[in-house]
Amino acid sequence: MKRLYLMIVLVLLVSLSACQPSDTTEIPDDELVELTLEELSYYDGKNGRPAYIAVNGDIYDVSNSVFWMNGGHNGFAAGQDLTDAIINQSPHGLSNLSRVPKIGILVEGD
Ligand code: HEM
Repeated sequence: MKRLYLMIVLVLLVSLSACQPSDTTEIPDDELVELTLEELSYYDGKNGRPAYIAVNGDIYDVSNSVFWMNGGHNGFAAGQDLTDAIINQSPHGLSNLSRVPKIGILVEGD
């Protein structure tokens, strides 16, 4: 009986972990958005707008991150290229980017 109970708990745990929504699901290259720096500035996370940040030419969506409430994070603001800041001023460096989805790439304006 005890073994059956353990089996049920195990099966439940395994199925629950398989159902976890993943924030970092890879978006295929041809579906990545392309934004100029000027367009990126719209996505500042304020007034319900999504919060995007650019690092090394890639754009990440931090809208669902609790660390980026209203587009702000430890004195930094979304809607910008934060390459220099994340490398030279953050304690975590580039590693935390793997926790948020990459949704696009930065392109040159006309
Ligand atoms: C003084 C500057 C900064 C400090 C003290 C800081 C600190 C933190 C802390 C404490 C966390 C969550 C805890 C953890 O690392 O596990 C975090 C997460 C994160 N930070 Fe920073 N950070 C700084 C700057 C930046 C900058 C400039 C960027 C720009 C791209 C950035 C991007 C992120 C991202 C993407 C996450 C992960 C969010 C998530 O998991 O939902 N951080 N940061």
